Amino acid sequence: MQNRCVNIIAHLFNAPLGESEAAVGVGTVGSSEAIMLAGLAFKRKWQNRRKAEGKPFDKPNIVTGANVQVCWEKFARYFEVELKEVKLRDDYFVMDPAKAVEMVDENTICVAAILGSTLNGEFEDVKLLNDLLTVKNKETGWNTPIHVDAASGGFIAPFLHPELEWDFRLPLVKSINVSGHKYGLVYAGIGWVIWRSKEDLPEELIFHINYLGTDQPTFTLNFSKGNYASLINCFKLKSAFYDAGSSQVIAQYYQLIRLGYEGYKNVMENCRENMMVLKEGLEKTGRFNIISKDNGVPLVAFSLKDNSRHDEFEVSHMLRRFGWIVPAYTMPPDAQHVTVLRVVIREDFSRTLAERLVTDIQKVLNELDILPAKITAKIAINGEGADKNITVVTKKTAEETQLREITTVWRKFVMEKKKMNGVC
Ligand SMILES: Cc1ncc(COP(=O)(O)O)c(C=O)c1O
Repeated sequence: MQNRCVNIIAHLFNAPLGESEAAVGVGTVGSSEAIMLAGLAFKRKWQNRRKAEGKPFDKPNIVTGANVQVCWEKFARYFEVELKEVKLRDDYFVMDPAKAVEMVDENTICVAAILGSTLNGEFEDVKLLNDLLTVKNKETGWNTPIHVDAASGGFIAPFLHPELEWDFRLPLVKSINVSGHKYGLVYAGIGWVIWRSKEDLPEELIFHINYLGTDQPTFTLNFSKGNYASLINCFKLKSAFYDAGSSQVIAQYYQLIRLGYEGYKNVMENCRENMMVLKEGLEKTGRFNIISKDNGVPLVAFSLKDNSRHDEFEVSHMLRRFGWIVPAYTMPPDAQHVTVLRVVIREDFSRTLAERLVTDIQKVLNELDILPAKITAKIAINGEGADKNITVVTKKTAEETQLREITTVWRKFVMEKKKMNGVC
């Protein structure tokens, strides 16, 4: 079943497979594990090439945007690869392909592009990256490949933007990861990594074991995972790679064959429509800048046009009273002075919910308008004029306020309990 999922997803990503050729890939716990495996394959391939050329192979690096998800930082630290990040800009929150290619050197194991930035859902321009890198590879002979982190976008772009070239249609794209538990529509605990071809996954990383009855090639960080039932299933399965907990694999296979291309397309179109309802509602308040793009992941990332009196952390905090958990966060370097709120539209986030969220946000804004301005410490980033100042303690203050409130509620709860039966 897992191999069938790998095949379906590889075809969805336009892997260059022959009629009866099996795709190369594996189910993982999520995109994080998938990224570790893909990164490891790139590192090993690069090392093998350097060894064969008689060149040093002890300083591998990887080029990404500063907007990468934390799992890339984990990969770099755990597997001793230098992370070279392209800084963001005030008005550009994803990796600039030209800058990324400039940073590539002979020690670069790959450039990682994101299809659906975690921070604002924007798709990076993989086609442009592929074109620029092709030119650089020709000039230098380095052959630097591309990995696409399509954790969210991998199940969106093929349905909403089939014409967009971001996948194995681009020759330098050697591997792609996607989270089954995001827009793959499966509950938590499943991701996928697909390689372009067998040549892109060094054989020495695959372990062959036979103590489950047949030759079992495995390439995952963990051997068994999931619960006891899934372990039992491992014993029954004769598939090539079987390490993902079986319940998630079964759920993924069920969704793929039950919904099919049309079904996924309908779900994604619906998410996009609800995203537009939310986005337009927020625009109508006149108080927000929209940071996300209409043609990315169906999410709305937005920031206050004026956060001098009250900021995004306060909006996030006050929304909790209405039952909404909307994260507020600062952008990475060099756009760290931009704070955004982000709402990701899932399959079950209906139009009614979108409208209710807009109403609740408007209520929060009305309440904030009559509250006194927050007292926040200001520091000068350049030690120059006041216009270069940034507010740095608002997040901390919001967290502290929240902690204080939680403590107060608990204290009250405990005191009342004490009154009732004397037991804490
Ligand atoms: C772009 C990107 N890559 C990787 C990940 C990690 O994915 P997972 O949670 O499936 O391990 C995420 C999760 O938010 C993500 O947005």
